[in-house]
Amino acid sequence: MEINVISGAIQATEDELIVVNLFEGVEKPGGATGAVDKAMGGVIGEAIARGDFRGKQGEVAVFYPRGAIPAVRVLVVGLGPQDKFSLQGVREAAATAARKARELGVPSFSSIIHGAGAGGLELESAAQAAAEGTILGLYRYQELKNKPPDRPDPEQFTLVLLDEANLPAAEAGADVGQIVAEAACLARDLINRPANYATPSDLAELAMEIASQFGAMRCQVLDEEDAAELGMGSFLGVAQGSDEPAAFIVMEHNPGREDLDTVVLVGKAITFDTGGISLKPSEHLDRMRGDLGGGAAVLATMLAVGQLELPLHVVGLVPATENMPGGQAYKPGDVLTAMNGKTIEIISTDAEGRLILADALAYASRFEPKAVVDLATLTGACVIALGRGVAAGVFSTDEGLLARLQVASQASGERIWHMPLYDEYLDGLESLTADLANSGGDRFGGVGASAMFLKQFADNYPWAHLDIAGMTFEERPGTPKRPAHLQKGGTGFGVRLMVQLLRDWSTAG
Ligand code: BES
Ligand code: ZN
Ligand code: ZN
Repeated sequence: MEINVISGAIQATEDELIVVNLFEGVEKPGGATGAVDKAMGGVIGEAIARGDFRGKQGEVAVFYPRGAIPAVRVLVVGLGPQDKFSLQGVREAAATAARKARELGVPSFSSIIHGAGAGGLELESAAQAAAEGTILGLYRYQELKNKPPDRPDPEQFTLVLLDEANLPAAEAGADVGQIVAEAACLARDLINRPANYATPSDLAELAMEIASQFGAMRCQVLDEEDAAELGMGSFLGVAQGSDEPAAFIVMEHNPGREDLDTVVLVGKAITFDTGGISLKPSEHLDRMRGDLGGGAAVLATMLAVGQLELPLHVVGLVPATENMPGGQAYKPGDVLTAMNGKTIEIISTDAEGRLILADALAYASRFEPKAVVDLATLTGACVIALGRGVAAGVFSTDEGLLARLQVASQASGERIWHMPLYDEYLDGLESLTADLANSGGDRFGGVGASAMFLKQFADNYPWAHLDIAGMTFEERPGTPKRPAHLQKGGTGFGVRLMVQLLRDWSTAG
C-alpha cells in the first residue's frame, strides 16, 4: 500500500472516500469533522442528533456529499470516550476506517490524522499509529488460497493535515508506521504459515534474504554440525527427533561497530511443537505452528531495524527446530549439556522452548551486550496467569531495561506485565542426575519456573524475558471486543514493542 501525507483541508480533498472522526457523546462536531459537516449542510450533525451515530469505538457511518464537496464519500469513524483516548485509539480508528474502505471497494482514500486535533496527541506518533492501524487492519493471510478475495485492498492511503509546517513530522511518523506494520505483517505470515511451509530451513533462507537487502546487515546460519562444535547440546537435543534440519540463525545489524551499543534479541522458533515424546493432546494442535512467534518477531524486527537504519549494533538470534517424537527423539530422563557446560535433566520434552533458548542465551554472551531480550511462546502457565490476548509476561534482572520496555510498551500499545524472578521457583527444578531439570513436578508457578530456568543461562548481561504464549495467536471469536487491528491467527506481537525499544535506545542512548 502506498501512503502519502499532504497538507490541505480535508473538506477540499478530492478522493473516493475521506475519513473524519467523532468522540463519543459529542453533539456538535468541531474541527475537521465540523468543517465537512458544514459543507454538507449538517447531515453529520443530524445523524448525531437523531441518535444514529454516537461516536462509539468501532462505529462507522457513510455519507454521500453529492457534489457539496469534491469527495465521493465521507466516512465518520467513532473514537470512543475522549478521556480514554490514546495512540491505541488511533490504531483502532484507522483500522476500522481501512476495513470499511475495503468493504466499500474504494481503491484510494484519505483521512485526517486521528487524535492530532482535539485528541491532543503528538502529531508524529499519531501519524505513525494511523499508518500502523491502516496496514494491520487490512492484513489477511492469502498465500495458499487460489481464489483472490472478493474485495481487493485499497492501494492508496493519504493522510491530510491542515498546517503545512507539520508535514515533515507527519511524513516521518507515517514512514516509521509503515515499516513497523509491514514488519509485523511478515511476523503474522510466519505464524499463520503452515509448518510444512515454514521449516527451520525456510526461516534461515528468509533471514539470509532480509540481511541481503541491507549493506549494514549480516546473516550467518549455523547448521547442526556448527551447533555441535559450539557445544549446543541443549538445542540439538530438541532437534534430534526431527527429520527437518535445525538452524541457529545469527543476524547482525551494524556488525563490528564497537562505537555503538549492542542489543541482542533472541526469539524461540519451534516451527512445530508436538510436545515430542511427552506428546501434546491433539485438540487445537494446529496452533502449535505458531510456536515460532518469538523467532518471527525477531526476524521481522531485524527487517524493520535495517530499513530504519538504526544507529545501534543489533543482533538477532533465532534457534529454529521442530519438536517431534520419533526413534531419534530425546526422552524424559535424558541429560543434555548446554553450551555453558550446565547439565539439564529432561522431565518433559514439551518444555523444549527453554532448552533451545538456554543455548541461545549462552551464545549471546559473546557479544558483550548492553541488553538481551528474549521473546518466546514459552508456557501455557503464562496464559493461565494473564489471559489470552491481554498481556505478555515480562521478567527481568535489570530495572533499567524493564523501565525501557515499559516505556516502549506504552508507546507501542503492546502490553506487558511484570512478573517476579523469585529463587523459590528454582527449587522445583532440582534434579537427581543433572545440574537442573527442565521442568518441575507440578503445575504451580510454572511460568516463574520457566523464567528462573532461563536465568541460569543469562547471567552475563542485563536480561529480560517476554513470555508471549498468550499473545501470538488471536483465537477469540470475532466479537466487537477484538481490536480492529487484529484478525484471527497470528498477531505479530512483539515487533512494535521491540522496534520502539530500539528506536528509543538509539535516540536517547
Ligand atoms: N509451546 C508451548 C507453550 C504454549 C502453550 C504456547 C500454549 C502457546 C500456547 C511450550 O513449549 C510448552 O509446551 N510448555 C509446557 C511446559 C511444561 C511442560 C512445563 C506448558 O506450558 O505446558
Ligand atoms: Zn512444548
Ligand atoms: Zn513450545
